[in-house]
Amino acid sequence: MATPRVVFLAPSYPPEMIQYTRGLAEVGAQVFGVGDTPREGLPKEVRRYLYDYLQVPRILDEEDVMNRVTQWLRGREIDHVLSNWEPLVILAARLRERWGIPGMSADVVRGFRDKEIMKERVRAAGLRVPRSRRVVTERETRAAAEEIGFPLILKPIAGAGSADTYRVTSNAELDAAIAAMRHVTEASCEEYVEGEEFTYDTISIGGVPAYENVASYLPKPIEMRSIEWISPVIITVKDMYQPKLAPGVELGRKVLKALGMGDGFTHMEWFLTPKGEAVFGEIGGRPGGAHLVDQMNYTSDIDLFREWARVAVHRSFEAKAPRKYNVGIIFKRALGRGKITRIDGLGDWLREAGPWAVEEKLLRPGTQRRNWKNTLLSDGHVVVRHPDWEEAHRLSFAAATGIRMYAE
Ligand SMILES: Nc1ncnc2c1ncn2[C@@H]1O[C@H](COP(=O)(O)OP(=O)(O)OP(=O)(O)O)[C@@H](O)[C@H]1O
Ligand SMILES: [Mg+2]
Repeated sequence: MATPRVVFLAPSYPPEMIQYTRGLAEVGAQVFGVGDTPREGLPKEVRRYLYDYLQVPRILDEEDVMNRVTQWLRGREIDHVLSNWEPLVILAARLRERWGIPGMSADVVRGFRDKEIMKERVRAAGLRVPRSRRVVTERETRAAAEEIGFPLILKPIAGAGSADTYRVTSNAELDAAIAAMRHVTEASCEEYVEGEEFTYDTISIGGVPAYENVASYLPKPIEMRSIEWISPVIITVKDMYQPKLAPGVELGRKVLKALGMGDGFTHMEWFLTPKGEAVFGEIGGRPGGAHLVDQMNYTSDIDLFREWARVAVHRSFEAKAPRKYNVGIIFKRALGRGKITRIDGLGDWLREAGPWAVEEKLLRPGTQRRNWKNTLLSDGHVVVRHPDWEEAHRLSFAAATGIRMYAE
């Protein structure tokens, strides 16, 4: 078989993309990277996996990138155009369409990107989706709020990272949310769904999951993103096929069909209501961020970066993925501003967790704090795993409360 040639958009940013680039090279692809990082600025560990690289001035300028890449590749046959970074999934689809390459169309990908189109399609398949309206003007927002009632959620149509997402429980809060969202051009106004929140993640082939995962958000992302003192915890559920979670797994599989999923990663979020019903939240046609793929790898001692590449290039998933552990990631936020000065309780926690602690990447004293509003990564994380859910949960919360970081 001829060597598969893959255009991979943004091969080194965000940093975990380096791992997918590695995966592609390891399954035998020639990787043509396209990004806005200068060639000289590419990290060493990614260079060796790139067959060639084009630097573009603005990676988000779709027309410009399409023209430059087309020009650059003239005369070379390309087999796949891929991206695992949310802002570029439409661009990848448009390039595929332009060059007549198989893969999901831009229209299908829009169902994974535009939160109203997504919900319309999922709703049309008879699945449980929060009632919602697309709103542009203030008048439309107020009318939608009237119709949907409090509590409700206002969020951007193509948001990420819970940015500009507001829970609104009164007219006063509605006024405040409208004022805070002036810069957002299009928003979703939707019914607030009570309950626990989970992920449903897959690597799919022709819309059928070859790999599945469920992770539990503790607490819900909207709270992780709005309350600074919280140490967000996310735990993959080893026993993801337990009856309690079955409605979510079933919902997830149906959502993939409803949206016409093809090959690759998906990352869905869903709510489990107090009555035990699964309600759709949102879905992306790409892997979850904030180290979720590392967590899934620790869950099964597997390399999903490479397995994704095998699916994307060869349409086969070969690895065994036994669910061995519940894997918790705990993000920490330092108290104070500026540079990290001190970490307390880490030694005690590491001793307590013993061999179950698998990663410790807290920012060291002297490092500038990250902006916790912009990135769930916060001021670093620890990862712990255990075959027993209760113990994984206990050790995760021991890190959430016992490890304390301080800044100036
Ligand atoms: N209808 C809803 N009912 C209850 N909570 C909601 C609803 N919509 C959103 N949320 C909360 O807000 C969070 C962010 O919303 P959503 O996932 O749609 O946006 P996002 O910015 O794409 O998120 P992220 O990138 O963090 O996954 C959700 O994870 C959930 O906690
Ligand atoms: Mg989300």
